[in-house]
Amino acid sequence: PMFKEWFGLSDMEDKIRRHYGLKRVHIVPGDSDTSKTAKRELGRAASQALTRLLNKDDVVAVTGGTTMAQVANHLTSPMPLPTNWFVPARGGLGESLDYQANTIASMMAKRTGAQYRLLHVPDHLGEEAYVTLMQEPNIQEIVNVIRKARIVVHGIGDAMVMARRRKVDQAIVDAMRAEGALAESFGYYFDRNGAVVHKMHTAGLRLEDIVATEVVIAVAGGVSKGEAIAAVMRFGHDDVLVTDEAAAQVIVRII
Ligand code: F6P
Repeated sequence: PMFKEWFGLSDMEDKIRRHYGLKRVHIVPGDSDTSKTAKRELGRAASQALTRLLNKDDVVAVTGGTTMAQVANHLTSPMPLPTNWFVPARGGLGESLDYQANTIASMMAKRTGAQYRLLHVPDHLGEEAYVTLMQEPNIQEIVNVIRKARIVVHGIGDAMVMARRRKVDQAIVDAMRAEGALAESFGYYFDRNGAVVHKMHTAGLRLEDIVATEVVIAVAGGVSKGEAIAAVMRFGHDDVLVTDEAAAQVIVRII
C-alpha cells in the first residue's frame, strides 16, 4: 500500500529481509508499546500472513502472549477449515490464562472452524513429575501432533521482562543476565548473537523442532522489543517477521 512508501516502511522491510535472509517482512506503522492501534494492526497483519501461508491439513503451533492474542482476535476464514489443527507450541510457560498458548490455539480454531488440541503441563514441574507426565499416552499423542506442525507462529519478548512476568527465580535471572540474555521466545532465552543461554523446562516443540519447521512466523513490535527481535532474527530460523515501525527502526540501526 501507498502509506508504506510515504513512511519509508517498504525500505525498512527490504533491508531487514535481506539482512536476515527472511522470506517476508511486514511492518505496520506506529509503536505497539504505546499505541493500541499499532498493536491491533500488528495482530491483523500477522493473521493475514498466516492465512496466506495456510494449506489444507496444516497443523499450526502457536505461542502465548498479548501479541499472539491480537493475532487470534483478527484471524478469520471465509469458510470453515475442518482439516486444520491449532495446537500450543509448548506447555506451561507461566502466562496468565488469557495469554496462554492453549487459550490462543483454541481461540484461533474456533474463529476459523478448525480443530484444536490442548497440552496440559503445569508450570514449575519437578524433574521426576515431568518424566512421569511425559510417559502418559495422552500427552505423548498431543506432543506428536505438535511436532508435526508445518507452521509455527510465535511472539518475542525482552528477556528480563519475560523472566519477571514468569517469576523466574532471582538466581536464574542473575545468571541469565550475566550471560547476556536479551530475548525470549518459545521458552528459550537468547543473547544478542542468537545463542541460547537458558531454556524453560516444559513439553512440546524443542529447539531442533523449530529449526526443522517449514514456516516460522515471528510477531513482535514496540520500541522496547527492537533488540530482542534482532537477537531472535540472529538465531536465524524465522521465515516471516511481522513487526511495527518503532521496533523496525531499532533493528535497522543495529544491522
Ligand atoms: O510466553 C509466551 C510468549 O510468546 C513468549 O515466548 C514471548 O516472549 C511473549 O509471550 C511475548 O508476549 P507479549 O506479546 O505479551 O509481549
